[in-house]
Amino acid sequence: MTQRTSGSACNVLALDPLEHYEASLTRGSSDARAEVAIGRAYRKLVPRWHFEMLNDEERNAAFRAALNAVVKQHQLVLDVGTGTGLLAMMAAQSGARAVVSCETVAPIAHLARRIIAANGLADCISVVPKLSADLHVGQDLPSRADVLVTETVDCGLLGEQILPTIRHAREHLLKDDARIIPASARVYFTLLESVAVHKKNFARVAGGLDVSLFNRFSTREYFPVRASNLDHRRLSLTRPLFTFDFQQSIPASRAVRLPVEVAHSGDVHAILFWFDLELADGIRLSNHPANANSHWMQAVHCFERPLRVERGTTVVLEASHDDGSFQFALHQSNDRTNS
Ligand SMILES: C[S@@+](CC[C@H](N)C(=O)[O-])C[C@H]1O[C@@H](n2cnc3c(N)ncnc32)[C@H](O)[C@@H]1O
Repeated sequence: MTQRTSGSACNVLALDPLEHYEASLTRGSSDARAEVAIGRAYRKLVPRWHFEMLNDEERNAAFRAALNAVVKQHQLVLDVGTGTGLLAMMAAQSGARAVVSCETVAPIAHLARRIIAANGLADCISVVPKLSADLHVGQDLPSRADVLVTETVDCGLLGEQILPTIRHAREHLLKDDARIIPASARVYFTLLESVAVHKKNFARVAGGLDVSLFNRFSTREYFPVRASNLDHRRLSLTRPLFTFDFQQSIPASRAVRLPVEVAHSGDVHAILFWFDLELADGIRLSNHPANANSHWMQAVHCFERPLRVERGTTVVLEASHDDGSFQFALHQSNDRTNS
């Protein structure tokens, strides 16, 4: 990391954009304080999960296998959300004629360029420091692309906006017959009894005092948990929830009403769910609770009031999704709602 603190316009112009950014942070600081300032600034821009994600070798191997299976020589690949440039470099190694990558966080994009150059792949890959929705064919891409690869997936699939990202790319950036990695996804769920999970999002009494009004700030959307690390019981079998076919037009919202058979009596505190991605034919990646090696945890939607359920009965799950999240409500047969 550079310690340059140059303030002159001449020197600043000589810097690459990342060095320029670091120089603007460090101007007037001593070296040690500058390091701290840079670290703080980068922590706001670059989430820590990048490192766990990069070290998830099952993920990396699956994307490499999918790119090897899909990309043909002389094809143009669009890589949305390049991060380090990893998938762009894999696409180049799988024989692509050219790869256009985009990355919305500018310092990440600038570092991706350096990483790609350090790996000797700069001739084949360009990195555009933009959100994919701001890309234009003829300006950022020479033509519509033959293949889209994007790993804009969080623990609950939708939180990084993969649906609008792929929808926009299909409409504006891809050929009609373009292949998309991942090709599809299916989300699975189970009814979850877990006081430990509930305590992550709701509080009632603390030190003998009623603090329940604080639940105004509880998360009403899904959040990540590592189910295997928390006491829990599954009160239903695993059931499929929604399927997403990224090669087809993607609805912005859907709702379903699912009868769910109760396998064990207990209190439903939450819906636990996860995804199964089909990257390409037969190449899958999942954050199933048994996959402790995945850097993705599972997603959980927590009900403020747990619902008592009895083995052998059927409850009704109302589930919906929009472009960025899922919502759930659980009904007894008498139509009381937990959400
Ligand atoms: C989960 S990381 C994946 C990085 C890399 N593709 C990999 O697999 O190692 C997603 C990256 O995409 C960026 N990103 C998310 N949505 C984007 C979009 N629509 N356009 C450009 N960048 C995006 C984020 O800033 C983040 O750096």
